[in-house]
Amino acid sequence: MLIGNGSPLLSAFSLITLLEFFCLLLVDFCINNLAAIRKLESSARGRTHFVESCGLPISTYFSALKLLWLLDNVEGLNEAAKKGDAVFGTIDTWLIWNLTGGAEKGLHVTDISNASRTMLMNLKTLDWDKSTLDTLGIPAKILPKSISNSEIIGNIAKGWPITGIPISGCLGDQHAAMVGQSCQKGEAKSTYGTGAFILLNTGEEVIKSNHGLLSTVAYKLR
Ligand SMILES: *[C@@H]1O[C@H](CO)[C@@H](O)[C@H](O)[C@H]1NC(C)=O
Ligand SMILES: *[C@@H]1O[C@H](CO)[C@@H](O)[C@H](O)[C@H]1NC(C)=O
Repeated sequence: MLIGNGSPLLSAFSLITLLEFFCLLLVDFCINNLAAIRKLESSARGRTHFVESCGLPISTYFSALKLLWLLDNVEGLNEAAKKGDAVFGTIDTWLIWNLTGGAEKGLHVTDISNASRTMLMNLKTLDWDKSTLDTLGIPAKILPKSISNSEIIGNIAKGWPITGIPISGCLGDQHAAMVGQSCQKGEAKSTYGTGAFILLNTGEEVIKSNHGLLSTVAYKLR
């Protein structure tokens, strides 16, 4: 989350990171107490309320609930977001924004695979899902523009030893490993990191799991 004068809400970031690693239960407790989420969970589709649009169950693992918590709990943030003085992004958003000039002229983007893990992106349109945003009360204008994993995004701003170099790709974590290991349609790979994950490349088709597996964008190369 970036805020008006260009400084990130660092306390919010580190709070979330720490809680995520050490007190997941506490985060769950706080977030599950968000009125919006309680209402959705008791609705007909329960935790799978958004599965049809984003492929993910309602979970504290994804950005949307953390964003809701921030909007609810950080003083002044909700108003700032509504006025367009605060914007949201994933870690790649922050890095690109910072590298391309920050508050002055930084680009506000996120790579599509990261966007698909926010719970806010529609897997079919590959765009932010309006009905999800309306349901959760998240203003569309605070969200970054989605970009593919391989395109010229912008140039490194002045102040860096590599000023002027184009940033021409952005992909993180399991998704990047999937591309790096050339995991093709029909193939699966396993990543060991903070957890162990198995990813199966289903090609261009979204295949709905009946066993609780997640659907997500692996990568988009142009
Ligand atoms: C990028 O981030 C660093 C570290 O927070 C900060 O010192 C610097 O001012 C930022 N650059 C821009 C252009 O925002
Ligand atoms: C985006 O990618 C980064 C780097 O791989 C990862 O740490 C982060 O969890 C991802 N964000 C989302 C919302 O998946």
